[in-house]
Amino acid sequence: MTIESNQSIIDLFKNANQEQIFKYFDELNLDEQNSLIKQLSKIENPSNLIKTVAKAIKYSQQNSEENDIFTQLPNEQTASTLDLDDEVLLNWSNLGFEAISKGEVAILLMAGGQGTRLGSSDPKGCFNINLPSSKSLFEIQAEKIIKIEKLTQSKYNLSTKPEIMWYIMTSGPTRESTEKFFKLNNYFNLNSKQIKFFNQGTLPCFNLSGDKILLNSKNSICESPDGNGGLYKALLENKIIDDLNSKKIKHIHMYCVDNSLVKVADPIFLGFAIDKKFDLATKVVRKRDSSESVGLIVLNDKLKRPCVIEYSEISKELSEKIDPKDSSLLFLRAANIVNHYYSVDLLTKMIPKWIKSQEFLPFHIAKKKIPCINLKTNQFQKPTEPNGIKLEQFIFDVFPSIELSKFGCLEVDRNEEFSPLKNADGAKNDTPTTCKLHYLKRGTKWIIENGGILENKDDLIEVMPLTSYSGEGLEFVKGQKFKNGDII
Ligand code: UD1
Repeated sequence: MTIESNQSIIDLFKNANQEQIFKYFDELNLDEQNSLIKQLSKIENPSNLIKTVAKAIKYSQQNSEENDIFTQLPNEQTASTLDLDDEVLLNWSNLGFEAISKGEVAILLMAGGQGTRLGSSDPKGCFNINLPSSKSLFEIQAEKIIKIEKLTQSKYNLSTKPEIMWYIMTSGPTRESTEKFFKLNNYFNLNSKQIKFFNQGTLPCFNLSGDKILLNSKNSICESPDGNGGLYKALLENKIIDDLNSKKIKHIHMYCVDNSLVKVADPIFLGFAIDKKFDLATKVVRKRDSSESVGLIVLNDKLKRPCVIEYSEISKELSEKIDPKDSSLLFLRAANIVNHYYSVDLLTKMIPKWIKSQEFLPFHIAKKKIPCINLKTNQFQKPTEPNGIKLEQFIFDVFPSIELSKFGCLEVDRNEEFSPLKNADGAKNDTPTTCKLHYLKRGTKWIIENGGILENKDDLIEVMPLTSYSGEGLEFVKGQKFKNGDII
């Protein structure tokens, strides 16, 4: 970089009242100065960014429920696997398998989150939830993929197993360790060519009033991943959309890394969306109670569009509202489990629009403890209280841009499909211990349904994904005895 171009970048930031970034500039050697400027050059318009942050802070203080009316989605857009005919489910499952057999399905995993609530420095997918087999979340998901490939191969008598592409979004903090973990584990016996890692973007971190960018060192600013809504930009910038189209992939199952019960590339879910010609669909479970930390899939009745109200942004009153038709149920109870279906056509057409405007992907703010340089003491500090703001985009903020008739919502059984890893052990819910318990309970239920016998009634058995994807193929356990800790 030339001295002139360096100066113009410095001026841009100084004009946006960010002179604190250059407090130590004169002490830096040339390489250090250049590395700071290089980092800053990624931010095109700092003044605009500062205005956007002010807007995000204002938005976070507003009550969106004042202007909008949120209600349940209409019946035409929803279905529930809990009360559907077997015939309908079979039809959807067949449609899903058919698409997989034709190479039309890819899987997209979001694994860029830093898992701060879990308190582990490793990416969440590497986490071992202490199953008897010690499998990590990544390994469980990889084996589900292999199993669904094998089921497809035998259903269609294919000479080789179809290979489902697995696109994995990582971020600066998770990329290196995630790739290393996959290599170390020999890609969990998948073909390394069917896995593609790509990084999401980053955004600067701010002080609590949102007007100053924090310094990570004398020659770098603090940055954090841009939230799971950064997925769309990352898909475009990393040419994943081109890759999908060149491979003639039509359907995407997108999911988040921390659900220990996730049904990766679920044929029923794919078939539901394919059958109904939805552009975008999502899976939900019934919300456990009004305080569960889950977003809600709802209808914005004013816009007549689908949307999600995030748990961090809903009022107590709305979250506790009871269904007037059934007083035993919450009115809004369709919990978002971050399992979304997208048609590749939709992504190809809409991503350029979505990423262009804050209207589709506004910034949300999260107050966090952000290690940074204290400008008064000139020392690096690790705060004990939130001292700054991270900006995040939410993946579902684009949902209202989908016509209601093109949006589907499939309710599934929580016991079969949702047990997320969010918190460290000691918390009441969503911990390694609850994930392990739910995982083992599901397998044990399948064993009993197939006529297996437990030595003691409370014994818990682990069924590996390679043995059964969702309870099928377990006839061989009939009459066999199992004891706690067994793995099949
Ligand atoms: C998320 C959902 C919430 C849902 C809940 C279910 C969003 C915005 N919120 O909340 O509605 O009910 O899961 O478990 O989707 N991630 C990235 N990059 C980031 C941030 C996150 O890839 O910058 C990924 C994480 O790795 C994870 C997923 O997004 O796979 C969800 O992230 P997390 O921050 O844990 O979401 P929740 O707050 O639990």
